[in-house]
Amino acid sequence: MRASFGLLPTKWNVPEIAYRNERSIHDLRANWRAMNEAAPKRTTNEAATPPGRARVTRRRVLAGSAGLIGLSAVATGAYASAIEPQSLVVTRYALNPPGWPAGRKLSMTVIADLHAGGPDMTLTHIRRVADSAGRLKSDLVILLGDYTATYRFVNERIPYAVWAGELARIGAPLGTWAILGNHDWWHNVADVRRALTDAGIPLLENDAVMLGAEGERFWLAGLGDQLAYRLGHGRFRGVDDLPKTLAQVGTDDPVILLAHEPDIFPHVPARVALTLSGHTHGGQIRLPLIWPAFVPSKYGARFAYGHVIEEDRHLIVSGGLGTSFIPARLGVPPEIVHIQLGV
Ligand SMILES: [Fe+2]
Repeated sequence: MRASFGLLPTKWNVPEIAYRNERSIHDLRANWRAMNEAAPKRTTNEAATPPGRARVTRRRVLAGSAGLIGLSAVATGAYASAIEPQSLVVTRYALNPPGWPAGRKLSMTVIADLHAGGPDMTLTHIRRVADSAGRLKSDLVILLGDYTATYRFVNERIPYAVWAGELARIGAPLGTWAILGNHDWWHNVADVRRALTDAGIPLLENDAVMLGAEGERFWLAGLGDQLAYRLGHGRFRGVDDLPKTLAQVGTDDPVILLAHEPDIFPHVPARVALTLSGHTHGGQIRLPLIWPAFVPSKYGARFAYGHVIEEDRHLIVSGGLGTSFIPARLGVPPEIVHIQLGV
């Protein structure tokens, strides 16, 4: 029986969900000003200082505070650039979204934004990622794009065949499947395609394939990249074609959609049980109170990280593994995502 996408939303008729940015640096500054104005004004009373004791002056307090802040900033910077990018966590999700048959078990290991290349994603680190991912023994391995480090800070280049081979050796009974990300398109798309193909990893570009044994079938759909061509001044042209991709879904079996950037999510119909994305790095630098500082999404922090549910539609955004723009992570350690469906 053919599935129907007659009600497939378009970019123009899907109601946007109002998003309230929880806090901004402007709010914090306003709060700080309000607190200062409400506090009683204090003046230094030099005559009250006992003889022989150092006077606590405003200048000394300010100098001490500045020193502490400076030390904290240096320590935080050292942690963000040298320690956290070299860490590795497995983030686990267990869910049964409405579009997925209750009780049908499927496990997936998701690798997003590897950005292979030192200083952060060295060959040693990549091997550790592949070893850890392999130990999860999932039914399916998903690669969500942005395979190489492309910023100016690269100090160790990893041959394409090497990182692709490491990803291929993770292995899974239902295979390893890949999509492309914006950095792949911007810098080396032909080489990335060739590396994945030579490693035996199929690439889904506006394609859908049926996987699973009889009675446990599901569709894996991979979207073309939404930022493939840079047009300048923050404008892009994508190669994504969601209607064409989903038109290939030829049965009523459930659908899992792979999309490098999560910004497609408001346009994904409820027919898709789960959308998987990367790209945001979870903001990459999360400062307390004002995180995430920068999220490459037109929706701000709405799809920055984690499990998002909107109108009963499910999205999981991985914080990824490598770094882009600057070689640092803070509050978003490199992660392998493990998803269990049908729990
Ligand atoms: Fe990306």
